[in-house]
Amino acid sequence: MKLAPKDRIIFALDVPTTKEAVKYIDLLKDHVGVFKIGLELFVAEGPRVVEAVRERMGPKGIFLDMKFHDIPATVKGAMKSASKLGAKFVTVHCDEGRGLLKAVVEGNTGGTKVLGVTVLTSLSAEDMHDAGIDPKKYKTPADLVLKRSELAKAAGCAGVVCSGQEAAGVRKEFGEDFIIVTPGIRGPNDPVGDQKRVATPYEAITNGADYIVVGRPIRQATDPVKAASAIAAEIERAVKDRGTGVRRV
Ligand code: C5P
Repeated sequence: MKLAPKDRIIFALDVPTTKEAVKYIDLLKDHVGVFKIGLELFVAEGPRVVEAVRERMGPKGIFLDMKFHDIPATVKGAMKSASKLGAKFVTVHCDEGRGLLKAVVEGNTGGTKVLGVTVLTSLSAEDMHDAGIDPKKYKTPADLVLKRSELAKAAGCAGVVCSGQEAAGVRKEFGEDFIIVTPGIRGPNDPVGDQKRVATPYEAITNGADYIVVGRPIRQATDPVKAASAIAAEIERAVKDRGTGVRRV
C-alpha cells in the first residue's frame, strides 16, 4: 500500500469534548493522516464530532472506533447508521464469531472499511485465559489473533486490529490486501500505561502493519507535533527497510 508516512498514523482523539478534539485536529492535521473517534468522545458528543473531523479532514480522515459488540440485528442497524456518517474505518469485535461480523459487513452501505478487533492490545496471555479462552487451544494472544483474523476475513472485513507483535503472522497468513491496524504503539521511553502487547512504530511497520494508532505518546508529549513528526520519520525508515526485506515474517 503506497501511503505517505504521516498518512499511516492514526491519532486517537481520546478526549471528552469536541472542543478539545478540534484543538488536536488543528494542531496535528498536517502531521497525521487519520483521527480516531473512540468511545469516550462519541458517547459525549455523538455525530457532531464526526462532522468536526470531516470539515477539517474529509471522510478519509475519520476512524470511528465503535467496537460494535451486540446481536447481529442490532450491530447491522448500528453499522447502517455509522455508514451514513461516512468514515474511512469502523470497528467491530471479533470475539462473538462470524454471525456478528457478517451482520456488520452487511450493514455497511457506504465506502467504509470494516475492521475486526481481534484481541485488545491491553490483554496479556494471562488476561485472555482468565477471561475463559482455552489455554490448550490458544496459548498466546498471537494464536487467537490468527483465528479471529480468519473469521474477520471470511466474513468480508477489510482487515483487522491487532498488536504490532502479531502483524507479521497476520500479514503472512492473510496476504498483502488485508488491512492491518496496530494500536499499543510505544517508544522505548514511553510509559506503557494499560497496554500489554506493545511495539515501536518501526517494529509494527516492519512487521507488516499498514497503519499505527497512537494516542498517549503524542498527546502527552511536551511537543505533540514534534512527536508525530518523529514517528513519521521512523515509519519512513521502516517502510524502506521493509522494501528491502527486513519484514520479520
Ligand atoms: O494512548 P494509546 O496510544 O494507548 O491509545 C490507543 C488507542 O487505540 C485507544 O484509543 C484504544 O481505544 C485503541 N485500541 C487499542 N487496542 C485495540 C483497539 C483499539 O488500544 N485492540
